[in-house]
Amino acid sequence: MSASTLMVRKSLDAIARSGSEDGEHALNKSLGWFSITAIGVGGIIGAGIFVLTGTAAAQYAGPGIMLSFVIAGLACVFVGLCYSELAAMIPVAGSSYTYTYATLGEFAAWVIGWDLVLEYAMGAATASVGWSGYAVSLLADVGIHLPPALTAATGTVVKLADGTETHAIFNVPAAFIVLALTFMLVRGTRESARVNNVMVMIKLAVVLSFILIGMWYVDTSKWAPLVPENTGAFGEYGWSGVLRGAAVVFFAYIGFDAVSTAAQEAKLPQRDMPIGILGSLLLCTALYVAVAAVLTGLVPYKDLNVADPIAKGVDAIGMGWFSAVIKIGALTGITTVILVLLYGQSRIFFTISKDGLLPQLFSRVHPRFGTPYLSQMLIGFCVALLAGAVPIGLLGEMVSIGTLFAFVLVCAAVLYLRKSDADVHRPFRVPGVPVIPILGILMCLTLMAGLPFDTWARLVVWMAVGVVIYFFYGRKRSLAQQEAA
Ligand code: ALA
Repeated sequence: MSASTLMVRKSLDAIARSGSEDGEHALNKSLGWFSITAIGVGGIIGAGIFVLTGTAAAQYAGPGIMLSFVIAGLACVFVGLCYSELAAMIPVAGSSYTYTYATLGEFAAWVIGWDLVLEYAMGAATASVGWSGYAVSLLADVGIHLPPALTAATGTVVKLADGTETHAIFNVPAAFIVLALTFMLVRGTRESARVNNVMVMIKLAVVLSFILIGMWYVDTSKWAPLVPENTGAFGEYGWSGVLRGAAVVFFAYIGFDAVSTAAQEAKLPQRDMPIGILGSLLLCTALYVAVAAVLTGLVPYKDLNVADPIAKGVDAIGMGWFSAVIKIGALTGITTVILVLLYGQSRIFFTISKDGLLPQLFSRVHPRFGTPYLSQMLIGFCVALLAGAVPIGLLGEMVSIGTLFAFVLVCAAVLYLRKSDADVHRPFRVPGVPVIPILGILMCLTLMAGLPFDTWARLVVWMAVGVVIYFFYGRKRSLAQQEAA
């Protein structure tokens, strides 16, 4: 096979046409800019801010975690600008998969589509494990104690009430929330968006009230020194600690790009995509830096290595009731993250399937609900299994590496298309090309370099499986290949 068959490209015209079909394989255009922005915020604020902020401050960055959030946020803003240009120019559901199809060609597009499973499906699984942790803690507060063996990943060692240890069987609450949200997504996008809007409001209110109440109790001496002295090991405080902190809290920003998977259901994607992507990203960056500042001003950073650091911050203020509100806010927040990621995964498969690289069932739309129901159910089942059986640490690192890889390709796609399709109308243009996309690429690569070797090895294995599927299935059934022949 020649390299040119692997690099068969879809023209931007063909992609635009495929986004405006009718019939059994068409999605409803039901979302306005507000819902689109809420999808972004819904996908972003979740387990990251409610769990990782404390761990990263305690172990790596100290109060400098504020700077870590700025660095990770800046990297995401550069990438977000690139996503905005592409999502407004190519408003179809496939996100970076589609942008790569138009640039580097089919094989690279498949690779990125396969990689996105790490971000979306595994991201949903990761968040649902975080959800399970908060749900178990809240239930315990009201006197309901779930058996520990049914609330952790298969094989994990858990402590029983009598102090003995056992191996967990399955994380039942994590699988439960995935299946419940899948049911909702099958029933309809507009309904899911409405529920999402309400839940986003709740979590925003909780995060804002933490900032507005907490700031009055901040003891600024806890911020000094802002960057604690490095211990001598890379990543343990000092500037290298700030950098490692940025790689960890990067997870908290994942999700803004899910906006681009809703492009085909946006009423006016040329306007709504940039508003949704950049609006949600800027809002969350501001909130995250503020939460980090308040938290490290309330509690000495070394004490923040706990599963519910924000609740710990509230305890420092001495308002017991507010701690329960925070837990409910965390639970709501993480719910929308799972919802948005499950949704995004089905829309990416939808587009890949329409190109012939995945079976047709992934793009079959329910006649009444207007959603890709079979695909959504299959995804829900697999994610529920992962969420129940795999530990959160392993899932989370795969999500980060997969997402950063996709981000690098998106920045590269902007650079490529500016040359190859210079005259195509761009409703939104990244300012300062090539500097901004190049900075985006460099920052993502730097964050990837901070991840452990094992994670890189798993990425390679996952990608190898994807390549095998492409050669045995997709290549033979690709519509673009058939048209080119
Ligand atoms: N950004 C999402 C979270 O923090 C993935 O849960």
